[in-house]
Amino acid sequence: MAYSEKVVDHYENPRNVGGFDKNDTSVGTGMVGAPACGDVMKLQIKVNESGIIEDAKFKTYGCGSAIASSSLVTEWVKGKTLDQALDIRNTQIAAELALPPVKIHCSILAEDAIKAAVEDYRVKHQAQAH
Ligand code: FES
Ligand code: FES
Repeated sequence: MAYSEKVVDHYENPRNVGGFDKNDTSVGTGMVGAPACGDVMKLQIKVNESGIIEDAKFKTYGCGSAIASSSLVTEWVKGKTLDQALDIRNTQIAAELALPPVKIHCSILAEDAIKAAVEDYRVKHQAQAH
């Protein structure tokens, strides 16, 4: 499979690899797996007091497209509100990275990881409020 230039760039120079303490209340953690191939992606967001995602980190055990997709979305979510982050669609990721059809599920994994991270953050904060 030939990877696009942008996939290779993110694969060779992944942005924001790593993680935050998942027990930190300003952190939301999304962990998702792709049934199609068994790849796993962990995406974490750090949200400031104004509700803006100020930082994001990922760890992905998977193919080049999955790594590139998660690297890309850590850049995209920064500076966004949670709702804006939820608006990121896998089709935008796939278009940006020029993913071929067989690799679309890798970008879906990244969209799902954002949703899971936002959900985790929100659940944490609901729990805190009561
Ligand atoms: Fe091989 Fe995803 S299918 S790494
Ligand atoms: Fe499965 Fe890329 S091949 S996530």
